[in-house]
Amino acid sequence: MGRLLSAHNDTTGIRHHGLVIITPTSLGRIDLNQRSSSQINRLKIGMQPAMKERHLPLQEHAMTLSERSPSELIDHILARYHAIHRQQLPELIRLARRVEQVHDTHVQCPRGLADHLEELHQALESHMQKEESVLFPRIKRGGTARGPIAVMRFEHDEHHEALDQVMVLTRDLQAPADACTTWRALYDGLREFREDLVQHMQLENDVLFEQALVQEARHG
Ligand SMILES: [Fe+2]
Ligand SMILES: [Fe+2]
Repeated sequence: MGRLLSAHNDTTGIRHHGLVIITPTSLGRIDLNQRSSSQINRLKIGMQPAMKERHLPLQEHAMTLSERSPSELIDHILARYHAIHRQQLPELIRLARRVEQVHDTHVQCPRGLADHLEELHQALESHMQKEESVLFPRIKRGGTARGPIAVMRFEHDEHHEALDQVMVLTRDLQAPADACTTWRALYDGLREFREDLVQHMQLENDVLFEQALVQEARHG
């Protein structure tokens, strides 16, 4: 946590990691506990194309979900994303190992993908456990959540970087023309997992965490 909080004093360093939300403006947003929508829109205007892509899929979804209370949102996130990721990643790792073993000599073999997914799995599991044991209970009871939220936002950025590396290793999830069924299933599964994880993080960053900060400001 200390690493993040000190990192927040260096906004240039945060931007270096490609974090979409953390900019000098959004740091002000966290401090001032303002509503996010207008600021998020302003941030989007200045985003690079790759960053825009990270934020597009959830727009309609987020608008619907923003009607829910923080407690309802948390229940939705646990069922729709945390539980699903725990099913997705072990199977994707298994498929990646198989593809790497069988197609070792293929020029487009995604070498190192299984190990990379193992690391992502461990990081994501650790992150979700922190949300489940510390942050979400705190939000549900209306306690102070600003510190853990800052840490979670930073870890989301690390997950984005891990997803970017998946795209590099898989050549943007484009299976070769002669790919077997397992290889195609792996890339289809990774595509679905990536979309889920991006939506999951966006829902937390832009809706749940914003609601929690507003709630904290009202009661603090
Ligand atoms: Fe989460
Ligand atoms: Fe998260």
